[in-house]
Amino acid sequence: MIIAIDGPAASGKGTLSRQLAGHFMLPHLDTGLTFRAVGHALLSADLPLDNEVLACEMAQKVDLGKLDRNILSAHHIGEAASKVAVMPSVRKALLEAQRNFANQPGGAILDGRDIGTVVCPDADVKLFVTASPEVRAQRRTDEILGKGQDADFDQILQDVKMRDERDMNRADAPLKPAENAHLLDTSKLDIEGAFQQAVSLVEKTLAQR
Ligand code: DC
Repeated sequence: MIIAIDGPAASGKGTLSRQLAGHFMLPHLDTGLTFRAVGHALLSADLPLDNEVLACEMAQKVDLGKLDRNILSAHHIGEAASKVAVMPSVRKALLEAQRNFANQPGGAILDGRDIGTVVCPDADVKLFVTASPEVRAQRRTDEILGKGQDADFDQILQDVKMRDERDMNRADAPLKPAENAHLLDTSKLDIEGAFQQAVSLVEKTLAQR
């Protein structure tokens, strides 16, 4: 069984995917981390984010077994990831590893922006998780404040909107719901509420097959 979960930045899809992976006992890949690893590698080496040849070299070196969410979750690395994610050769280099993960025996859960549309178009269940930009910016702000760091809601809201714009309007594999995706708006749901709805959507879809 393959479950594909897509949605914009800070929609809650990461938390939801980890919970679903635990519930259905499936391995989980957060594909955002693969793009973040490329952004992080460039930033750490003091290299520019707009050089596709360099970014592609970094993408070819990404090791799925070595993605450290603690390091890669920083806000500025998400911005860098979104910039390198517009580059077709970077996407191509990461796509093979993402598909191999999806096709392991027993299945998997993957989350990202293009899982239901490009990485796993034949996934058994597709969810598209959304929330309003304001709700997503507030969640991101709370998350950063929770780590004891400074966070400016207005700046984060502006970043969330800019990231949506970039992720939705790129030519290659833009963020959009697959035709047969179930929409799950988490604006008015807490983590437990979103999880319950997602489990029920997955079970209903599997029962109809
Ligand atoms: O989900 P995230 O915030 O960790 O993703 C970071 C960036 O990576 C996102 O802004 C766009 C890119 N991305 C992508 O283009 N395709 C994916 N499947 C996952 C992430």
